[in-house]
Amino acid sequence: MKKKSGISSFNYNSISSLLKLMIEKPHSNKYENDFSDDKYTSDKSTLKQIAEKKHIYIGTIASNNFKESNFCKVTPKHFNSVTVENELKWGHMSSKNIVGEYDFSTADEIINYCKEHNCRIRGHVLVWGRVPGKSYPIEVDELIQKSNNPKETLKEILKEHIYTVLNHFHGSIDTWDVVNEPFEVFGHKLAPYSFYEILGKEYIKYAFKCAREADPYIKLYLNEQFFYYRDKRAKAFIELLKEMVYEGIPIDGVGLQHHVMFNEQSIEDFKWFIEEIKNLGLEFEITELDIREKIFKKAKKPALAQAESYYKIVKTSVDSGICKGITFWGIDDSYTWYDYIPPFNMKLYKPNNPLLFDEKLNKKPAYYGVLNAMK
Ligand code: XIL
Repeated sequence: MKKKSGISSFNYNSISSLLKLMIEKPHSNKYENDFSDDKYTSDKSTLKQIAEKKHIYIGTIASNNFKESNFCKVTPKHFNSVTVENELKWGHMSSKNIVGEYDFSTADEIINYCKEHNCRIRGHVLVWGRVPGKSYPIEVDELIQKSNNPKETLKEILKEHIYTVLNHFHGSIDTWDVVNEPFEVFGHKLAPYSFYEILGKEYIKYAFKCAREADPYIKLYLNEQFFYYRDKRAKAFIELLKEMVYEGIPIDGVGLQHHVMFNEQSIEDFKWFIEEIKNLGLEFEITELDIREKIFKKAKKPALAQAESYYKIVKTSVDSGICKGITFWGIDDSYTWYDYIPPFNMKLYKPNNPLLFDEKLNKKPAYYGVLNAMK
């Protein structure tokens, strides 16, 4: 079997798309509202209070060191939803990367904390092919390679995994990202993960069918990141959704990661995209929201431009009527995944500062942008 997963699936097109993204200018390097003004900052409401009035979940992530981080200081007050950053990923839960052996202890610890603090938990993620060893155990690939019937072997492994996990977390997790990032990062094709090489797009549909069988009561989501919401790739994603819905594949919603890394996604395109989701009778959540402040370095006040960007995406989502939740990929600027991945871990790209609270847990203008967008 050709091994082409993850970052190694980058090619010339990927690099040119990446360069295009890097040189594009942010859509707004100005700001219309001054979210540092007293009229906003005197508001003592918490995010949770405002979100609950709109019946949407407002969430953050819990890392495996959640007890020592700022998570416990902020979460009970501001958030009513938590996504486990890594510890529900198949590769992380598989002790020693072995198929069928699980260590749920860290995930269970996080979930118990969330239950005590009345937070719902978003399950992230059942099937994700991008990072062998992390997003799924290496042994999956070894077993497929050895098998005389790779298709059946993979289906058995996927089914067993989905049943085991959904059975363990039954009653604790009400919404799952069943499949994460099915598309290649650049380009408009499904990513060449092992799962795809063996089963084609059937691996996606099969995962949803297994999940519905294993637990009929949970919501099933397809989660993806978009740099553009109306390009060939976004349209290919919508076509996949249509196919799933018309074939009766049990899908409830779409997870939009909405990491803003190089420049902002156009709000007009975003509106088009969520209208398509609505027309299919599906709902959506913003699942991994973070907006790098650095992309606004040319604005007079980058923190205000960042706040405006948060305001627009949250407002458009809430106004759509089909947005069930908004989750930020971190709490405060002292910890963000960007600080650990290239190119954002390089000096040139830092500080990333993509979140709502600063390192000392002061509320940034971004916080007030989100608060006001939900009102
Ligand atoms: C990231 C985590 O934040 C990092 O700690 C980890 O090293 C890699 O994964 N899209 C996703 C998330 O669906 O699971 C990723 O989380 C960020 C991008």
